[in-house]
Amino acid sequence: MAALPDDLRVSLEQVLRPSSTQEIARSVERLIERYRRGTAATEPILRSPTDVAAYAAYRMPATFAAVRAALARVAEVAPEFRPRTHVDVGGGTGAAVWAAAETWPSLESAEVLEQVSQVMTLGRRLAEGAEAPVVRGARWRRYVVGPGPTLPEADLVTMSYVLGELPEAHRAGIVREMAARGGVVALFEPGTPAGHQRVLAARELLVEQGMTVLAPCPHSAACPISGGEDWCHFAARVTRSVLHRQVKAASLGYEDEKFSYVVAARTAWAPAEGRVVRHPLRRKGLVSLRVCTADGGLTTETVSKRHGETYRRARDLEWGDAWPPVGEDG
Ligand SMILES: C[S@@+](CC[C@H](N)C(=O)[O-])C[C@H]1O[C@@H](n2cnc3c(N)ncnc32)[C@H](O)[C@@H]1O
Repeated sequence: MAALPDDLRVSLEQVLRPSSTQEIARSVERLIERYRRGTAATEPILRSPTDVAAYAAYRMPATFAAVRAALARVAEVAPEFRPRTHVDVGGGTGAAVWAAAETWPSLESAEVLEQVSQVMTLGRRLAEGAEAPVVRGARWRRYVVGPGPTLPEADLVTMSYVLGELPEAHRAGIVREMAARGGVVALFEPGTPAGHQRVLAARELLVEQGMTVLAPCPHSAACPISGGEDWCHFAARVTRSVLHRQVKAASLGYEDEKFSYVVAARTAWAPAEGRVVRHPLRRKGLVSLRVCTADGGLTTETVSKRHGETYRRARDLEWGDAWPPVGEDG
């Protein structure tokens, strides 16, 4: 379970406290319906301060959890990567900046590029409550993805839950631009078939631009889950705050955020040997793992108690983990 860091949780509570829960709930309903449609936006989706508050209350914890879970896996396969600079494109209220700061204490500067000024205002206010100096000191700059504006260079360039909002014609351009400016590029989309297709298209472009895929894939060759009914996605469990439950009219204390992602690097670090692409199935004395493998295939591995230490490691695995675990013998 990815609990929100205390400083982000407190900051959200403080910044959102004066807002009317009922108004936010109405806005949440509209946003859920809008994001479900999954079509590109012809005008900003977050149009009012209430929309922005609603986004921060019910989406930011989830996007934070997804980005944090994925970046943790990047840090695992590339312990040499110690970024100092971070640029987040379409950064919204700053979820990826908080997540990157928690993953890499080496970060010294962060820049959030965003089209809606009210979103930036809320993101800045939230960031004031951050413990990490890089989040508190983040720069927020108005930037509209489209033809023209170049990105600043950075060790890490992220874009989370934005590609699907962009007109089709602007998607390849921004991915190429990210590849040109970033040492490591990370893209996140909803864990839907359409989200996965966008991630796949971006992955192809990143590889074309000479980058090496670091995660989740164990190789940079063609994805074995690229057709048919299946799609590659992962899940991050998010703790719901009281406000989160109220504005979503939800009773469960958590939700599972499904996401697809790709992270690629200019440096050819080795990815994991394999990646668990489904919930491991556990039966008495047996663990069954669906694994995406370095040779470009998909396999189901069954590990039993007879395998001793290997079984103990398999038993602790989660969907999205590396297999065999990174840094240990298989
Ligand atoms: C679903 S939100 C994601 C926000 C944030 N990245 C996160 O993960 O929580 C999409 C964000 O992308 C921004 N956005 C959409 N189209 C954009 C564009 N053409 N240029 C810049 N930002 C854009 C929106 O204003 C919004 O803040």
